[in-house]
Amino acid sequence: MTILVTGGAGYIGSHTCVELLSAGFEVIVLDNFVNSHPEVISRIEKITGKKLAVINGDVRDQALVEESLKKYSCTAVMHFAGLKAVGDSVKNPLAYYDNNFVGTHNLLLAMQNCGVEKIVFSSSATVYGEPQYLPITEDHPLSATNPYGRSKLFIEEMLRDFHHANPSWKIVLLRYFNPAGAHESGLIGEDPMGLPNNLMPYIAQVATGRREYLSIWGNDYGTHDGTGVRDYIHVVDLALGHLKALKQLHSPKCISVNLGSGVGYSVLEVVHAFERISEKKIPYRICKRRPGDVAACYADSKLARVLLDWVAERDLVAMCKDHWRWQLICREDKT
Ligand code: NAD
Ligand code: WQD
Repeated sequence: MTILVTGGAGYIGSHTCVELLSAGFEVIVLDNFVNSHPEVISRIEKITGKKLAVINGDVRDQALVEESLKKYSCTAVMHFAGLKAVGDSVKNPLAYYDNNFVGTHNLLLAMQNCGVEKIVFSSSATVYGEPQYLPITEDHPLSATNPYGRSKLFIEEMLRDFHHANPSWKIVLLRYFNPAGAHESGLIGEDPMGLPNNLMPYIAQVATGRREYLSIWGNDYGTHDGTGVRDYIHVVDLALGHLKALKQLHSPKCISVNLGSGVGYSVLEVVHAFERISEKKIPYRICKRRPGDVAACYADSKLARVLLDWVAERDLVAMCKDHWRWQLICREDKT
């Protein structure tokens, strides 16, 4: 079985390619490398000892996607390609609607023209907006608080409309909570190009001395220590969730499934866990709340367990260990 992986050189896509290749799938990566490096491909090959095909191109290029699906006789698509920086999406909304929404629209057209009817889509817990109850189940009301979130929400709605009109399609929307960690080889992980948006990459850069201190966005939330609580999910567990989702594509459906651990950790708990693992002090300053942040967000992961036979197996310690190993190796590479 050959899978087209859009955005396969990115953080989550690269880890999923590793698991796909290890499980015996043929993998074709389509990526324009706007937020990744071609070097990732050889690292995936090094980890797995297997080759994959790479198309340097844009998911919005419908003709290229059609040509690729046909050339490699792809039977399913895993669609990671897109932009994901929340703050940037507020400044450049059209780039997000174009890359994410138009990109998915064009991909669906290409798939339809090639008779490929199976897709796993990277959605996000961001589609739940401000949580109305916890843990969040898949039937929680949907809303969005920024253009990035809205682009994901619109794509979800488009996929549901599309499935309604094309009921033979097999569609799984995976709503990731907070991906963290790296591959245990230390060869692939997330190394943000500019200022990190997310907590763990920021902490790791403070630990290496690349940043002076961590700004903690608020300690006056109604959580156990006042700092924000999130459901961190190891990127390898996330990748394995995609393989389980692929198994669901045998029969027609359009379903949304949370991929989270179901456990919430506060910012201070993550900081302290990272300090223990790295044996480095993480200086921090308490700052005012970041606009748009919610106090707490964590998944009800029952559906993933029942439907996909998937549970998160790697804990916060593993996420910190693997992220730290990767951070040290990727830093060595740059010096
Ligand atoms: P990433 O930026 O590391 O990977 C995305 C990849 O897509 C990159 O390699 C980039 O070069 C490529 N890409 C972007 N636009 C493209 C285009 N138009 N055509 C072809 N390639 C393109 O991001 P990630 O963290 O691996 O996220 C993957 C997906 O998961 C994204 O859709 C993201 O919105 C979603 N997601 C991520 C998170 C997170 O916190 N990382 C959480 C929830 C959902
Ligand atoms: C986690 C916690 C911050 C950085 C984002 C997107 C979401 C999804 C996942 C794509 C919060 C605190 C963070 C820092 C801090 N992405 N923090 N100082 O905001 O839960 O989710 O990534 O779909 O859409 O919004 O993740 O890692 O930014 O923050 O105190 O420098 O860490 O306030 O409580 P978030 P995050």
